[in-house]
Amino acid sequence: MAAFLVLVAAILVQLVFSSDDITGCGNKPADIEFVLDSSGSILFKDFRKQLQFTENLVDLFDIGSNKTRVGMVSFSTDVIPEFRLGENDNKEDIKKKIAGVKYQGGRTNTGDALHYVRTRTFPVGGGRRPNVPHITIVLTDGMSQNSSYTEQEAAAVHGQGITVFVIGIGNQVDEKELAAIASTPTDNFMFKIDNFDALQSIKDRLAVRTCKVPPATPAPPTPPTVNEDAVLYGNAHCGPKIPVDLKIVFDTSAIGLDNSKFIMRFIADVSDRLDLQQSQSEVGTVTNDCATKSLADVSFGSGHDREKLEQSLVGTSPSFSWMMRKLRLSFDQQEQRKKVAVVFLGETLDGAEFRKVLRETGRAKFMGIQILVVGVGTRVNSRQASFLATQANQVFFALSYDIIDELEGPLLLQICTLN
Ligand SMILES: *[C@@H]1O[C@H](CO)[C@@H](O)[C@H](O)[C@H]1NC(C)=O
Ligand SMILES: *[C@@H]1O[C@H](CO)[C@@H](O)[C@H](O)[C@H]1NC(C)=O
Repeated sequence: MAAFLVLVAAILVQLVFSSDDITGCGNKPADIEFVLDSSGSILFKDFRKQLQFTENLVDLFDIGSNKTRVGMVSFSTDVIPEFRLGENDNKEDIKKKIAGVKYQGGRTNTGDALHYVRTRTFPVGGGRRPNVPHITIVLTDGMSQNSSYTEQEAAAVHGQGITVFVIGIGNQVDEKELAAIASTPTDNFMFKIDNFDALQSIKDRLAVRTCKVPPATPAPPTPPTVNEDAVLYGNAHCGPKIPVDLKIVFDTSAIGLDNSKFIMRFIADVSDRLDLQQSQSEVGTVTNDCATKSLADVSFGSGHDREKLEQSLVGTSPSFSWMMRKLRLSFDQQEQRKKVAVVFLGETLDGAEFRKVLRETGRAKFMGIQILVVGVGTRVNSRQASFLATQANQVFFALSYDIIDELEGPLLLQICTLN
């Protein structure tokens, strides 16, 4: 029984002490950017104390290219990069660099310093180490020049999954601003101390808290909001919620050159109104002009060439089913974007051809291609059109080609709201 109690006591002691023990955190790797206030309100000797503090803090981490990496910027009126994150992986070299950081004097441009951390230290898409915490430790003695800018930049930093510790030193600090800079819960990420001498007293606590930060997970980008009425009834732009590879399918020979021009105009307008670049989407065409230059090569990535498209509108018709097969083959199997086809239908297909078309359509749907159907004219069989479409609300009708622009809005809205 006594032995059991001793064991329980030992476990309790370990639990209590390990929560404030830097060695207890297993030296998990992290990326840490120090942001030091070098403004004129700080005395030179106090600036030296900030440097001493960061040196001592670095001493507590397991530094290495695959372990914890540190970087440093100082800021006053401008942001001065002192050394880049991971530029050194030798503790002594880092401490030498820190000791050599120059005092600037000047204004307190905290907003720009935070902007730097978000866009340069931890840029989205480049240079960030995945699966490690992205941390910045901001030391400041006062209120920034532009609080609303500072708060706005702080929110953007948090939104990118970067954890911010802030240390406010002295009685000039604005607690509201400090709280806005710190990650939440504020109590864990904000330190307030009376003077620079007190920095050493928080060193261990700060080190332990940094090693409890989970790996960075940036907030997912907010999907663009679609103003439905403006898209439906006006000529507003919209961006697909997810990247889309859109193919427009039409039978040039069945439709005739004059009507094809209405479709070309329609495609150009739809391409203009879709925010292609922003949503990493693309528009292309699939036609049955196998005898001439393939329109399928023409893509509308950023700009597009209407004339080139209209020139290539000559051809003889194989069949609608052949075109549907060509559509399926035109998509790259490895394509990560949502595959979407808008198929123009201008006539009733005879029984045998319709069965072939259905078979091809089935294969396309099996490949994950979403099919929207636009029926034009009085010869279209609406039942056939519905069979071809992936969903009942993805069939559109216009009485003639010269008024298909009326369908732009409803079609765009469908494309922009696909999940
Ligand atoms: C760091 O990790 C990578 C991948 O695990 C490895 O290839 C590399 O050799 C490591 N570098 C060092 C210095 O340990
Ligand atoms: C503060 O920053 C905001 C946002 O960047 C800006 O619009 C405003 O003009 C700035 N105010 C001052 C006084 O510089």
